[in-house]
Amino acid sequence: MLRLIDITHGYGPARSRTQVLDRVSLVMPSGQMWALTGASGSGKSTLLNLIGLLDRPQSGAIELAGQRVSGIEASEAAKVRNRLIGFVFQSFHLLPRLSAWENVALPLVHRGIGRAERRHAAMEQLERVGLGDRLHHRPEEMSGGQRQRVAIARALVTQPRLILADEPTGNLDSESGAMVMALLRNINRETGVSILMVTHDAVLARSCDYRVQMQDGRIIQNATGQ
Ligand SMILES: Nc1ncnc2c1ncn2[C@@H]1O[C@H](COP(=O)(O)OP(=O)(O)OP(=O)(O)O)[C@@H](O)[C@H]1O
Ligand SMILES: [Mg+2]
Repeated sequence: MLRLIDITHGYGPARSRTQVLDRVSLVMPSGQMWALTGASGSGKSTLLNLIGLLDRPQSGAIELAGQRVSGIEASEAAKVRNRLIGFVFQSFHLLPRLSAWENVALPLVHRGIGRAERRHAAMEQLERVGLGDRLHHRPEEMSGGQRQRVAIARALVTQPRLILADEPTGNLDSESGAMVMALLRNINRETGVSILMVTHDAVLARSCDYRVQMQDGRIIQNATGQ
């Protein structure tokens, strides 16, 4: 369960601050797939960064899996992030010099897991995303859709409770985008991981369990079902 309570956030020094999020509240039960939509600049990525504990809200609270996480120290936030959250970005964010399996295994390095075990866990996730035959390929040797599937495997390797995906299909052609979307849907159903996905695509948004629409830093619509 993810709960946002009256989140307000902005950028810049207090006197000249531009307010980006304005009293955002939301309750997300576990195991669902959510779409976050809204015009460019409406605050979607800002909200994802706060939920992902990459930044702290100026006011308000965030609860994740029963724990209040919005005020915790940076080092504790890093631990919670590693334990509970997986990220998928529009531009994949893979390390170019590492092979697919090494990219996927990276979050496990921070957990102090040995190489053989990391490799095994990475292989398992790469097989899950249909890339069991691409373990040693580097990102530049793969298509966009394959790169995003590597990124999804990396997000899954820590067995998170929540995946935050910021326009995961934004850099893909429609066919690869549909494949990535179907993959996220399967993973959500099979593992019960919650997924919060930013998308500009109305068809993809409609295929999610819930849709939240933002405008000028506020949630203007919170729709359930189809
Ligand atoms: N690091 C930052 N410093 C200052 N302003 C920022 C920063 N990040 C975002 N903003 C501003 O906050 C507002 C919301 O940005 P955000 O990236 O959350 O929008 P978005 O909904 O994700 O847009 P898009 O659909 O284009 O990705 C924008 O006006 C943006 O200029
Ligand atoms: Mg954005």
